[in-house]
Amino acid sequence: VAEGAVDLLVHNVGMLITMRGGPGPRSGASMAEIGAVAGGAVAIGDGLILAAGREEDVRDQIAGRAILQELDAQGRLVTPGLIDPHTHLVHGGSREHELALKLRGVTYLEILAQGGGILSTVEMTRAATEDELYVKAKKSLDTMLLYGATTVEAKSGYGLTLEDELKQLRVAKRLQETHAVDVVSTFMGAHAVPTEYKERADAYVSTVIDTMLPEIKRLGLAEFCDVFCEHGVFTVEQSRAILRAARAFGFGLKIHADEIESMGGAELAAELGCISAEHLLAATDEGLNAMARAGVVAVCLPATSFNLRVANHARARAMIEMGVPVALSTDYNPGSSPTESLQLVMTLACLHLRMTPEEVITALTINAAHAIGRADQIGSLEVGKQADLVLYHAPNLAYLPYHFGINHVDTVVKKGRIVVT
Ligand code: NIG
Ligand code: FE
Repeated sequence: VAEGAVDLLVHNVGMLITMRGGPGPRSGASMAEIGAVAGGAVAIGDGLILAAGREEDVRDQIAGRAILQELDAQGRLVTPGLIDPHTHLVHGGSREHELALKLRGVTYLEILAQGGGILSTVEMTRAATEDELYVKAKKSLDTMLLYGATTVEAKSGYGLTLEDELKQLRVAKRLQETHAVDVVSTFMGAHAVPTEYKERADAYVSTVIDTMLPEIKRLGLAEFCDVFCEHGVFTVEQSRAILRAARAFGFGLKIHADEIESMGGAELAAELGCISAEHLLAATDEGLNAMARAGVVAVCLPATSFNLRVANHARARAMIEMGVPVALSTDYNPGSSPTESLQLVMTLACLHLRMTPEEVITALTINAAHAIGRADQIGSLEVGKQADLVLYHAPNLAYLPYHFGINHVDTVVKKGRIVVT
């Protein structure tokens, strides 16, 4: 291979969404600045982007270098690889039996309080072998990739014992090592109070802090720590204690905050300097303003509010106006959001969160990269970043959320390699 050769040139791109821009997560008007280039190309070498922009400029920049492979985009839309910054990828079983309960009006938290919901997935996850969990999660990760995701965050939190949490985290690690999609791991031992600790939540919090966090750190099995701060799950005080301990161990911090009831979760995210806060349907203006000042990324999950059939959705418009950077995610999990499709999330974000297609693609690329601490490597098509990109059967960006419920992905390139075709 010639020194300095171009391994892959993607050319004849109808609309290239580069997302180039300054450092830091985007909010306000900058969420609409997507660096769109008509008639674009991307040159790739060693898995990284050598040049991206107008085709004639790109060809100028690589003049004289050998081009080993060309991919004719045939006028298609191309974006950076989509990033799913919040999933519960690894778990046992499924919960379609909850659909009938839901249709009868039983709420999500009522199902959980009766020992169902997350706790029934905990039973199925504990009963599953590591290989079974791997096979099931791999199938979901394959689907995510087919729908355009090239990096996915994955949380534990269906084991709730040290051994079962480690089992989930080892599966995520094995997927990271074997799958084309990059998997970023989060420890979420504080996802629910396990049945054996019923009425003894503080004792479980101590187990998370004293037993689980140090061992997971020692084994290097997670980069982030997340907590479900919610009425009837973990209080603000318990969440603060866990996240402070996690910070002392060097984990990045995330929090499921103010999803169902307003609890001060957004305020806590700002106080602790969390990298992201999730859900936020019931977050107060004070909480959102505090997040804006602290630079916490809001990860909105419109597939979850859609599937839970709640009356209101996350106030993405208010967040964007207040200066909170907004990211989007599937929240893929067997209870509140059983879908791997970030393209469905695009549609729901437009229709329910009233985000524009430009804001949506910002939320699923560069802002999602910031939400998982990867914005130096992914989230935009800029020189030196990882060559992760998606080609769609679509003439323009608005077509993706507009024509909904189907898969528009044509080709996916991950680290310069064509992995979906
Ligand atoms: O983000 N809210 C807590 N955790 C998940 C749901 C998990 C489940 O129901 O299994 C969520 O929505
Ligand atoms: Fe979640």
